[in-house]
Amino acid sequence: MSDHALTRKLSAQTLPWATDWDALFGRSAPLILEIGFGHGAFLAHLAQLYPDANLIGIEIANRCLDAAEALIERLRLPNVRVIHARAETALHHLFRPATLAEVHINFPDPWFKLDQQHRRLMQRDTLDALVSRMQTGAALYLATDIEAYARMSAKLLAETPGLDNLLPDSWLRDPSAHPHRIITKYERKALRDGRTPYYFAYRRSTTAAPDIPVIEDLPMPHLIFASPLDLEALHAGFTPLKTREGETIIHLMTAYRGRGALLVEAHIAEPTIDQHIALLVLEKWRDQPGTYTIQLSPLGHPRPTAGVHRAVWLLAEGLLALHPDARIIDHKLQT
Ligand SMILES: C[S@@+](CC[C@H](N)C(=O)[O-])C[C@H]1O[C@@H](n2cnc3c(N)ncnc32)[C@H](O)[C@@H]1O
Repeated sequence: MSDHALTRKLSAQTLPWATDWDALFGRSAPLILEIGFGHGAFLAHLAQLYPDANLIGIEIANRCLDAAEALIERLRLPNVRVIHARAETALHHLFRPATLAEVHINFPDPWFKLDQQHRRLMQRDTLDALVSRMQTGAALYLATDIEAYARMSAKLLAETPGLDNLLPDSWLRDPSAHPHRIITKYERKALRDGRTPYYFAYRRSTTAAPDIPVIEDLPMPHLIFASPLDLEALHAGFTPLKTREGETIIHLMTAYRGRGALLVEAHIAEPTIDQHIALLVLEKWRDQPGTYTIQLSPLGHPRPTAGVHRAVWLLAEGLLALHPDARIIDHKLQT
């Protein structure tokens, strides 16, 4: 295995919830996080600046992950890992409370519009999760070039329990607000276009913040039902379903017929994770038709969340409704 084999293609979808970072890095060291690292130059700079820290970068854009991985390999940096994840997913599922020693967010949400229902990185629930993951004394550095975003962030940060402002004002319009800062790719563009960024610097205090536990995997969902209908009839009777329950959206889209099975394509959007998965309806015993198992297909690394358990239940309800004598025999669902 090359030195950097571990850096490749890590993702919140496949990493353990929560992740044992000491095991992943092969050493115990302070954890520094950058969210939305773009092409990774700032992250690489941090890794060089702090050789005694373990650096983690979170990004949603695949092309950024590829660029950062190439840079890390070229610079031969052993103390940095990049993870494909939405910040919301990483913060809730990968990191235990009070584990981060420092956090950097440079120019999030450039297409932010106050009047849009766009899901912003800087918002109450994500910031609360972030603060809960910071150790006492950990610094949070944020930069943005958008005035409305700066004002919104200033209000949000000031209202956050457990954070102390390190600056005399809400922000500084000067990069010296952040120690050892280098100019990022996006920052250079903003400066070139005449937008002077807003720099924020906060520190995690000893004041209690919302307690936000790690969301771990549930057991694998599993339901057994009996129905006088054969697979063909279950397939014909399948009706797509889209439902919102609280903040979770479950969409059972299409059923496909395979040998001895139906495969139901589903999209499940939960506040902390979006999953495009497949549920399987399998004939339990080939020689004894009429008993079926619903379970999660291993296609695409699905994670057994509360939303996935609920989707199995909703699929079962739909299939059971197709015949008055159909009934549930057993299930392992948390719903
Ligand atoms: C304007 S770019 C800034 C990139 C880099 N930090 C810089 O200053 O050059 C914003 C970056 O944040 C990433 N991003 C946006 N929302 C994110 C989220 N919720 N989780 C992780 N990354 C996110 C985008 O893919 C993009 O690469």
